[in-house]
This record gives sequence, structure tokens and C-alpha cells, in this order.
Amino acid sequence: MNTHHSRTTEGRGRLFENVVDTIGNTPCIRINHLAPDHVRLYVKAEFFNPAASVKDRLAISIIEEAERRGDLKPGQTVVEASSGNTGIGLAMVCAAKGYPLVVIMADSFSIERRKLMRFLGAKVVLTPRTAKGFGMIQKAKELADANGWFLARQFETEDNAQVHENTTGREILADFAGQRLDYWVTGYGTGGTLSGVGRALRKERPETKIIVSEPEGAQLIGSGIPQERNAAHAPAASHSAFQPHPIQGWTTDFIPFVLQESIDRKYIDELVPVTGPAGIEWSRKLARQEGIFTGISGGASFAAAMQIAEKAAPESVILCMLPDTGERYLSSPLFEGIAEAMTEEETALSLSTPGFHMPPA
Ligand SMILES: Cc1ncc(COP(=O)(O)O)c(C=O)c1O
Repeated sequence: MNTHHSRTTEGRGRLFENVVDTIGNTPCIRINHLAPDHVRLYVKAEFFNPAASVKDRLAISIIEEAERRGDLKPGQTVVEASSGNTGIGLAMVCAAKGYPLVVIMADSFSIERRKLMRFLGAKVVLTPRTAKGFGMIQKAKELADANGWFLARQFETEDNAQVHENTTGREILADFAGQRLDYWVTGYGTGGTLSGVGRALRKERPETKIIVSEPEGAQLIGSGIPQERNAAHAPAASHSAFQPHPIQGWTTDFIPFVLQESIDRKYIDELVPVTGPAGIEWSRKLARQEGIFTGISGGASFAAAMQIAEKAAPESVILCMLPDTGERYLSSPLFEGIAEAMTEEETALSLSTPGFHMPPA
């Protein structure tokens, strides 16, 4: 490493009026050790958002657009079904703006997600995992109707893809202006990232190939089976290609309306199925070999990006989305095998010099 001068920083050149103004403008970071030598591979690190995931963008968009339209009244309760990151992003935004929040979440998602939402002042109502994502959504609608709450509708609202076109997409266009961008790689939950960035890339960078990863056991797009919907575009039934998978935040048991745009307008150039274990493996490798700390969905998107990288032409430039922080998975299989007590090797290190040994267990 070149160390001619010490690192200095300059500040951001502005003061922020509130936390929500810090959402977005996440960095694209080069992968130096894991990427094959013949390509340049970058990741867009969404854990730099204030509540540490890509869903902060969606949360501020839904709340501010609803305020603008008059759909959300001062002090009105907000309710949403979320596997975690949308709930955490909404909890941050609602705390900053003074709205009560109720999040509906299946009991299969990690404990730290519930605790984070409650820490940010939200209420969390659990639904049985057997009722899947479809059940979470119906429960959120039930509670909204019964109480006159504002339902955020992340899977249907136009404010989802729109914010990704206006922010995520524009950031990518700006950061890669005058440079190659051969492939952009993402997974999907609601499909907001994909449909929004898809619009921006198709308009401004039509040469960029859009690569979409989905769980190998739940290839909803890959199955080609259409989704049944009701008049409000919400799912009318669970999709038959769905199987439970460990990639939290990805592919729920229906094709969201927000994602449907990417299918209908053919934003997807290639689908790459990824297994849960591959997502976990690449998340761990990103942490250990790059110092980049992302969750299982980030690892799974990166697994797809590595497959693309291996077969890409020399000098290709690839950008892969990393949706959230690995810290959101401490109780999940991502951290299986990470010891709490000292390992044998660490104990041997402790005993190798005379001072400060731990008492035997
Ligand atoms: C961990 C994680 N990864 C990926 C995604 C996908 O993002 P999007 O909803 O924009 O498709 C989400 C959100 O659903 C998420 O929580």
C-alpha cells in the first residue's frame, strides 16, 4: 500500500437537518481480492444508509410521497408487512418524522430485526411462518382497515421503483459516467431496486446487461408461471414455485406488482439461480477477504456476480448490489460456527505469554 501521506478527511461540506437527508449516495467499492483478474468488479454498499439497508430509500419515498398527496395525516399510524429491512427503515423514518409504526412480520425472520424495530419505537406483530409472506400482507391490510391506519404497500406502490430510478439509478449513472458498465447484478424482494434501476439503465445505458439472481429453490421468475392478482395489484394467491429459503429479504411467495414491470418490459437479460449456502459462503468471504460486511442476500447477489465475472470478456466492468449489513444476521445461519468463547487456537495464544490468563471454564 502507498503510504506517502496520512489519510485525512474533509467533512461532507454541509450540515444535515435530519437523519432522513443522509439516505442514499452509497459508495461503489472495488473488489480487490475475490474478483478474477480480467474484470473490474464493484459493489454498491447499501449498508451505508442510516438504518443500514437499501430499504431506507423506499421508506422515505413512501412516507414523503404520502405526505405530499395528503394520504398520510400528521400523527397517523403507519402499518406495513416486512421481512425486516423495510420495517427497520420505516421505523427510522417514522421516528424522525413522528409517526407511530406497526410492522407485521413472520416469526421466521431473525430476532435482531424485531428488536431493532422495537428499539426504534415501532410495534411488531408476528404472524405464523406457515402463513408465509401472503399471510403477513393480509394481516397488515386487516389491521389497516380495522384501525384507519396508513398501509405502506411496498410491494405495489409506485413510490418504490420511482425512488430507485431517481436515487439508486442516478447514483450509478453518475458514478459510472464516462466508464464502462457491462453488467449490473441484483436480487429482488419487492423488485423496487430492479425495476427502478432497470428504468434508468435501459434509458441511459442500454448496453449494460441486467443480471438478476433468485433463490435456486424459489425461482418465481424462472418458472415462467404468472402471478394471480386482485384489482389492487396485490397477490391473490401464493405462487406455486415458492419454497422457503434462507436468503432473508429476497423472493417472497408471490411476484410483487413492482417486480412485474421488470418482467413485462424485459429489463432482465439473464437469471442466475443461487443457493442459500452459496449466499452464506460469499457473504463470509466478502467479510474476511475484502472487509465488506453484508447480509446473506448481498452474498447471494455477489455469488451471481462472481459467476458473471468468470465468463465475462476481459476488461469487463461489473456492479453488484449489496442490500444490507451482516450485523442483521447475528442469530442466523450466517454466523453459525462463529464462537462466543475462546477457540483452542485463541486459548493457546493466551497461554503463550505469562499474563492475564482466563480462569479455566
Ligand atoms: C436483505 C434484503 N435484500 C434484498 C432486498 C431486495 O430489495 P427490493 O425490495 O428493492 O427488491 C431486500 C428487500 O426486500 C432485503 O431486505
